Amino acid sequence: VQTIGVLTSGGDAPGMNAAIRAVVRQALAKGKKVKGIKKGYAGLLAEEIIDMDATSVSDTISRGGTILQTARCLEFKEAEVQAKGAEICRKHGIDGIVVIGGDGSFQGAQKLARLGINTIGVPGTIDLDIACTDYTIGFDTAVNTAMEAIDKVRDTSTSHERCSVIEVMGRGAGYIALWCGIANGSEEILLPEKYDHDEEAIIKRIIEGRKKGKEHYIIINAEGIGHSQELAEKIEKATGVETRATILGHMQRGGSPTCKDRVYASTMGAYAVDLLCEGKSNRVVAYKNGEFVDYDIEEALAMQKTIPEYLYSISKDLV
Ligand code: F6P
Repeated sequence: VQTIGVLTSGGDAPGMNAAIRAVVRQALAKGKKVKGIKKGYAGLLAEEIIDMDATSVSDTISRGGTILQTARCLEFKEAEVQAKGAEICRKHGIDGIVVIGGDGSFQGAQKLARLGINTIGVPGTIDLDIACTDYTIGFDTAVNTAMEAIDKVRDTSTSHERCSVIEVMGRGAGYIALWCGIANGSEEILLPEKYDHDEEAIIKRIIEGRKKGKEHYIIINAEGIGHSQELAEKIEKATGVETRATILGHMQRGGSPTCKDRVYASTMGAYAVDLLCEGKSNRVVAYKNGEFVDYDIEEALAMQKTIPEYLYSISKDLV
């Protein structure tokens, strides 16, 4: 490859800037040109493409969000739109692309690879819901942000002897909820992958907890289960325990990345460029069993992610 394009796609995640920076600097170190594609695949189609040099990424490693901005581009699922995307790459001399995003973004990357553009995916999502990798850019920061926020809610919940339903992000994936559930010592963790809809059982446990002298009752609820406000009202009505719902929302997606997110994102960005320079395409960078590795995109997309059973079981035992 001669010119490497880089884009971020899907929900932003802290550490994406570290990955972009690593792509730019590693590509330059290898004598390649770099172009930044703004706003994901939507920006590619709109030809929002900028030249990048070493200074384009100065002072960005500690910043949250993505300097290239991002978008969810449903249109890019259509074959003729993908062909247009590949054509635009060729027009701008882009013969390799690093796509930083989640599974949906990798599907687009796979299509571009088929159309002759060398593509490498880098896993970027706060949700940790990419099966081929044990690490995704942004999860560490997001889960730490959520954990700190939940600690604060817990303080006031204890003072008022309340029950708190705290909703964390994750429409389809309960990793943030599971990790916070353990890290915050919550009484209940509700995960989309495991939810049994037995709210009466939760109510029973709250009443029992109160009898045993529990001063608060923290329920961490994943966004995919939702209805946090209604659940809080139902609990208060059934138990007589004052209950509040707190939806943490997009604060979990922002903020300066943790050290881990900066270092892993930097490694993955550089690794993606190395793959392109070795003539590889249609690969996803992953962190598996303590090592940085890469997989064929098809193979990666076919993998199934499941909630680690041991973690889930201890989350219940440690209450
Ligand atoms: O994929 C990241 C994520 O933050 C999910 O946890 C959440 O369900 C979704 O994005 C929210 O998307 P949006 O920012 O488009 O509302």
